[in-house]
Amino acid sequence: MISSVRPARLLLLGLSLASVGSSSSACRVQIPPHDQVARVARFIAHQCNWASMATISTHKPVVGQPFSNVFSVSDGPHGTSSGVPYMYLTRMEVSVQDLQVDPQASLSMSLAQTDYCRLQGFDPQSPLCARIILSGSVLQVNGTEADFAKKALFSRHPEMIDWPTDHNWFFAKFNITQVWVLDYFGGVKTVTPDEYFQAPPHRKHH
Ligand SMILES: *[C@@H]1O[C@H](CO)[C@@H](O)[C@H](O)[C@H]1NC(C)=O
Ligand SMILES: *[C@@H]1O[C@H](CO)[C@@H](O)[C@H](O)[C@H]1NC(C)=O
Repeated sequence: MISSVRPARLLLLGLSLASVGSSSSACRVQIPPHDQVARVARFIAHQCNWASMATISTHKPVVGQPFSNVFSVSDGPHGTSSGVPYMYLTRMEVSVQDLQVDPQASLSMSLAQTDYCRLQGFDPQSPLCARIILSGSVLQVNGTEADFAKKALFSRHPEMIDWPTDHNWFFAKFNITQVWVLDYFGGVKTVTPDEYFQAPPHRKHH
Protein backbone atom coordinates (compact mmCIF):
# COMPACT_ATOMS: atom_id res chain seq x y z
CA MET A 1 0.00 0.00 0.00
CA ILE A 2 2.83 2.37 0.78
CA SER A 3 4.42 1.67 -2.60
CA SER A 4 1.28 2.66 -4.52
CA VAL A 5 1.74 6.38 -3.96
CA ARG A 6 0.15 8.38 -6.74
CA PRO A 7 2.24 10.42 -9.18
CA ALA A 8 0.61 13.66 -8.06
CA ARG A 9 1.74 12.97 -4.51
CA LEU A 10 5.25 12.12 -5.70
CA LEU A 11 5.43 15.38 -7.61
CA LEU A 12 4.37 17.23 -4.51
CA LEU A 13 7.04 15.44 -2.46
CA GLY A 14 9.68 16.15 -5.08
CA LEU A 15 8.91 19.83 -5.04
CA SER A 16 8.85 20.12 -1.30
CA LEU A 17 12.02 18.06 -0.87
CA ALA A 18 13.91 20.73 -2.80
CA SER A 19 13.10 23.31 -0.17
CA VAL A 20 14.40 21.36 2.80
CA GLY A 21 17.52 22.21 4.65
CA SER A 22 17.50 25.95 4.88
CA SER A 23 15.18 26.48 7.80
CA SER A 24 16.11 23.89 10.38
CA SER A 25 19.83 23.96 10.93
CA ALA A 26 22.84 26.18 10.72
CA CYS A 27 24.24 24.13 7.84
CA ARG A 28 22.62 24.80 4.50
CA VAL A 29 22.62 21.16 3.50
CA GLN A 30 20.09 19.10 1.61
CA ILE A 31 19.40 15.41 1.57
CA PRO A 32 21.11 13.83 -1.48
CA PRO A 33 18.88 12.30 -4.21
CA HIS A 34 17.28 9.08 -2.93
CA ASP A 35 18.95 6.91 -5.59
CA GLN A 36 22.41 7.97 -4.36
CA VAL A 37 21.99 5.58 -1.49
CA ALA A 38 25.50 5.72 -0.01
CA ARG A 39 25.38 9.53 0.03
CA VAL A 40 21.99 9.46 1.74
CA ALA A 41 23.45 7.13 4.37
CA ARG A 42 26.39 9.48 4.99
CA PHE A 43 24.01 12.43 5.17
CA ILE A 44 21.85 10.75 7.83
CA ALA A 45 24.88 9.61 9.83
CA HIS A 46 26.14 13.20 9.95
CA GLN A 47 22.80 14.88 10.69
CA CYS A 48 21.81 12.70 13.63
CA ASN A 49 23.11 13.51 17.10
CA TRP A 50 21.90 10.30 18.66
CA ALA A 51 21.16 6.72 17.72
CA SER A 52 19.31 3.72 18.99
CA MET A 53 21.75 0.89 19.57
CA ALA A 54 20.70 -2.72 20.00
CA THR A 55 23.03 -5.08 21.81
CA ILE A 56 22.62 -8.71 22.76
CA SER A 57 21.58 -8.53 26.39
CA THR A 58 23.58 -10.10 29.19
CA HIS A 59 21.05 -9.02 31.79
CA LYS A 60 18.30 -11.09 33.39
CA PRO A 61 15.53 -11.77 32.49
CA VAL A 62 16.35 -11.04 28.83
CA VAL A 63 19.76 -12.71 28.45
CA GLY A 64 20.43 -13.38 24.76
CA GLN A 65 17.64 -11.08 23.58
CA PRO A 66 18.02 -7.83 21.63
CA PHE A 67 18.23 -4.76 23.87
CA SER A 68 17.83 -1.33 22.29
CA ASN A 69 19.03 1.81 24.04
CA VAL A 70 19.76 5.45 23.17
CA PHE A 71 23.28 6.86 22.73
CA SER A 72 24.64 10.24 21.78
CA VAL A 73 26.75 9.92 18.63
CA SER A 74 28.79 12.13 16.33
CA ASP A 75 30.66 11.30 13.14
CA GLY A 76 32.47 14.62 13.29
CA PRO A 77 31.96 18.29 14.13
CA HIS A 78 29.23 19.90 11.98
CA GLY A 79 30.50 20.04 8.40
CA THR A 80 33.31 17.54 9.04
CA SER A 81 31.74 14.15 8.45
CA SER A 82 33.90 11.05 8.85
CA GLY A 83 31.05 8.56 8.50
CA VAL A 84 32.21 6.80 11.67
CA PRO A 85 29.72 7.09 14.54
CA TYR A 86 31.73 7.86 17.68
CA MET A 87 30.41 7.38 21.20
CA TYR A 88 31.44 8.29 24.74
CA LEU A 89 30.89 5.26 26.93
CA THR A 90 31.33 3.96 30.44
CA ARG A 91 31.49 0.35 31.55
CA MET A 92 28.96 1.22 34.25
CA GLU A 93 26.31 1.47 31.52
CA VAL A 94 23.92 -1.46 30.95
CA SER A 95 24.41 -1.80 27.15
CA VAL A 96 28.17 -1.31 27.39
CA GLN A 97 28.22 -4.29 29.76
CA ASP A 98 26.58 -6.29 26.95
CA LEU A 99 29.25 -5.07 24.51
CA GLN A 100 32.01 -6.31 26.78
CA VAL A 101 30.64 -9.83 26.35
CA ASP A 102 29.72 -9.46 22.67
CA PRO A 103 30.75 -6.26 20.84
CA GLN A 104 28.31 -6.90 17.97
CA ALA A 105 25.53 -4.34 17.77
CA SER A 106 23.10 -2.59 15.47
CA LEU A 107 22.79 1.18 15.34
CA SER A 108 19.87 3.02 13.76
CA MET A 109 19.46 6.70 12.96
CA SER A 110 16.49 8.42 11.36
CA LEU A 111 15.82 11.86 9.92
CA ALA A 112 12.78 11.72 12.24
CA GLN A 113 15.38 12.86 14.79
CA THR A 114 15.83 16.09 12.83
CA ASP A 115 13.21 18.60 11.64
CA TYR A 116 13.22 17.04 8.18
CA CYS A 117 10.42 14.46 8.45
CA ARG A 118 8.20 16.71 10.54
CA LEU A 119 8.50 19.61 8.10
CA GLN A 120 7.84 17.27 5.16
CA GLY A 121 4.92 15.57 6.90
CA PHE A 122 6.59 12.15 6.72
CA ASP A 123 5.64 9.65 9.40
CA PRO A 124 8.76 8.11 11.02
CA GLN A 125 7.82 4.72 9.55
CA SER A 126 7.35 6.09 6.03
CA PRO A 127 10.25 5.07 3.79
CA LEU A 128 10.48 8.75 2.81
CA CYS A 129 11.52 9.57 6.37
CA ALA A 130 15.00 8.31 5.54
CA ARG A 131 16.88 6.13 7.99
CA ILE A 132 19.87 3.86 8.24
CA ILE A 133 20.55 0.71 10.18
CA LEU A 134 24.22 -0.08 10.71
CA SER A 135 25.50 -3.56 11.49
CA GLY A 136 28.89 -4.02 13.10
CA SER A 137 30.56 -3.85 16.44
CA VAL A 138 31.65 -1.29 19.00
CA LEU A 139 35.40 -0.83 19.49
CA GLN A 140 37.32 1.39 21.86
CA VAL A 141 39.49 3.96 20.08
CA ASN A 142 42.80 5.39 21.26
CA GLY A 143 45.43 7.90 20.23
CA THR A 144 44.68 10.27 17.36
CA GLU A 145 41.36 8.59 16.62
CA ALA A 146 40.27 9.22 20.22
CA ASP A 147 41.34 12.86 19.80
CA PHE A 148 39.05 13.13 16.77
CA ALA A 149 36.22 11.32 18.60
CA LYS A 150 36.53 13.81 21.44
CA LYS A 151 36.31 16.76 19.07
CA ALA A 152 33.41 15.14 17.22
CA LEU A 153 31.42 14.39 20.37
CA PHE A 154 32.20 17.35 22.62
CA SER A 155 31.45 19.89 19.87
CA ARG A 156 27.96 18.49 19.39
CA HIS A 157 27.29 17.32 22.96
CA PRO A 158 28.93 20.03 25.12
CA GLU A 159 27.42 18.60 28.30
CA MET A 160 29.76 15.60 27.97
CA ILE A 161 32.66 17.76 29.13
CA ASP A 162 31.14 17.77 32.63
CA TRP A 163 30.16 14.10 32.88
CA PRO A 164 31.51 12.60 36.14
CA THR A 165 35.14 11.55 35.75
CA ASP A 166 34.79 8.64 38.19
CA HIS A 167 32.70 6.86 35.51
CA ASN A 168 35.91 6.25 33.50
CA TRP A 169 34.48 7.37 30.18
CA PHE A 170 36.21 6.18 27.04
CA PHE A 171 35.80 6.88 23.33
CA ALA A 172 34.48 4.21 21.03
CA LYS A 173 33.46 3.86 17.43
CA PHE A 174 30.83 1.85 15.69
CA ASN A 175 32.85 -0.32 13.28
CA ILE A 176 30.49 -0.72 10.34
CA THR A 177 30.28 -4.04 8.49
CA GLN A 178 27.02 -3.38 6.59
CA VAL A 179 24.81 -0.37 5.95
CA TRP A 180 21.07 -0.74 5.42
CA VAL A 181 19.23 2.25 3.96
CA LEU A 182 15.52 2.97 3.87
CA ASP A 183 15.07 6.21 1.96
CA TYR A 184 12.37 5.46 -0.59
CA PHE A 185 9.73 2.97 -1.71
CA GLY A 186 10.79 -0.48 -2.86
CA GLY A 187 12.39 -1.95 0.21
CA VAL A 188 15.65 -1.70 2.10
CA LYS A 189 18.89 -1.18 0.16
CA THR A 190 22.36 -2.18 1.29
CA VAL A 191 25.63 -0.31 0.99
CA THR A 192 29.07 -1.78 1.69
CA PRO A 193 31.39 0.01 4.12
CA ASP A 194 33.65 0.91 1.15
CA GLU A 195 30.79 2.52 -0.80
CA TYR A 196 29.66 4.30 2.34
CA PHE A 197 33.04 5.78 3.23
CA GLN A 198 33.77 6.83 -0.35
CA ALA A 199 30.48 8.70 -0.75
CA PRO A 200 30.56 12.49 -0.35
CA PRO A 201 27.84 13.29 2.20
CA HIS A 202 27.31 16.84 1.03
CA ARG A 203 26.81 18.46 -2.32
CA LYS A 204 30.13 19.25 -3.95
CA HIS A 205 30.87 22.92 -4.34
CA HIS A 206 31.98 24.04 -7.76
C1 LIG B 1 42.66 0.99 23.09
O1 LIG B 1 43.18 0.84 24.39
C2 LIG B 1 42.49 -0.13 25.14
C3 LIG B 1 43.01 -0.06 26.56
O2 LIG B 1 44.43 0.00 26.59
C4 LIG B 1 42.68 -1.50 24.51
O3 LIG B 1 42.01 -2.48 25.24
C5 LIG B 1 42.11 -1.44 23.09
O4 LIG B 1 42.35 -2.66 22.43
C6 LIG B 1 42.75 -0.32 22.31
N1 LIG B 1 42.03 -0.18 21.05
C7 LIG B 1 42.63 -0.01 19.88
C8 LIG B 1 41.75 0.10 18.70
O5 LIG B 1 43.84 0.03 19.78
C1 LIG C 1 35.56 -3.62 11.23
O1 LIG C 1 34.83 -3.49 10.03
C2 LIG C 1 35.48 -4.01 8.87
C3 LIG C 1 34.57 -3.74 7.70
O2 LIG C 1 34.41 -2.36 7.52
C4 LIG C 1 35.74 -5.48 9.05
O3 LIG C 1 36.44 -5.95 7.92
C5 LIG C 1 36.52 -5.71 10.31
O4 LIG C 1 36.63 -7.09 10.52
C6 LIG C 1 35.83 -5.08 11.51
N1 LIG C 1 36.68 -5.20 12.70
C7 LIG C 1 36.26 -5.75 13.82
C8 LIG C 1 37.27 -5.83 14.91
O5 LIG C 1 35.11 -6.16 13.99
